[in-house]
Amino acid sequence: RPPRSTLFPYTTLFRSGIGVYAGCHEGYYTFAPLFDKIISDYHQHSPSAKHISNMDHTQLQCPDFPADEDKMINSTRIRVARNLADYPLGTAVTAVQRREIEKKITSALSTFTGELKGKYYSLGSMTEAEKTQLIADHFLFKGGDKYLESCGLERDWPEARGIFHNDAKTFLVWVNEEDQLRIISMQKGSNILQVFQRLADAANKIESKAKFANDEHFGYVSTCPTNMGTGLRASVHINLPKLMKNPDLHQSIADKYHVQIRGIHGEHTETNDGTFDISNRRRLGKSEKELVQDMVNGVHALIDVEKTL
Ligand code: ADP
Ligand code: ARG
Repeated sequence: RPPRSTLFPYTTLFRSGIGVYAGCHEGYYTFAPLFDKIISDYHQHSPSAKHISNMDHTQLQCPDFPADEDKMINSTRIRVARNLADYPLGTAVTAVQRREIEKKITSALSTFTGELKGKYYSLGSMTEAEKTQLIADHFLFKGGDKYLESCGLERDWPEARGIFHNDAKTFLVWVNEEDQLRIISMQKGSNILQVFQRLADAANKIESKAKFANDEHFGYVSTCPTNMGTGLRASVHINLPKLMKNPDLHQSIADKYHVQIRGIHGEHTETNDGTFDISNRRRLGKSEKELVQDMVNGVHALIDVEKTL
């Protein structure tokens, strides 16, 4: 593998909140005494609770942001994590299975037309310069994450990993990174509704061609307990320079609205120019629509306080 410095060029926080990954879908039941506790604590989802999906973007309460608030928001992104029903999770797949998974996903994506039409780029055939640019522009995963490495998710790197995207890079799919699929919709600006609509459309289309691991209690199954359910993280990159200088204040608002604050170079990174990644924290026991709404409500609350400072 290339040296860590080129893969991981940003300030990195090595602090783990949830240090457990699953090897297969059944593992969540086999090891229920462990996973149930983690899942109730992180998502407040009890062992008998059901998970219900709802991707109807028309139910989202998200009027356009007024011009002064729109200016604070650089970009919007929503991703969902998915894994194929007929394979173990990434922590436990063999190299042969990983290649089969890549083939199934890329051949489904190759049939897409219109706005979702795109091309697959395998990680192994990209140059260092191409990778660095895609990472800097927030499109590609970084690799070299010590948690993924320690649970076996980076075995045989970069074999059978890659990224599919349309020309505009508004629809992207990461293949065989932490989850077998990360389906992503993103664009500049603050039009959350448009991003959610594209995401829902793309996820439904992929699901019509590939069977995802899913059940009534857990919803979509993911290798990390934090991503069970919807696997959805809806985020904006937003400039909140005054509020972010006051950690107690912004953390109390984040906790109240169930949002998480990350640096803009992704998980475990720090930001120092006042621009942050704000996203929904919960993913299970609430529908996709409710979780995008968590992010919208949290962003409004943070903006309101920023304006008073
Ligand atoms: P994930 O969202 O897939 O869990 P990360 O937090 O590491 O993982 O983010 C992945 C990439 O997506 C990073 O490069 C990050 O900068 C980018 N990203 C996340 N949210 C946004 C956004 N709202 N606008 C632009 N890029 C984003
Ligand atoms: N173990 C890591 C932490 O707690 C990851 C948690 C969720 N993130 C993820 N990429 N699955 O920080």
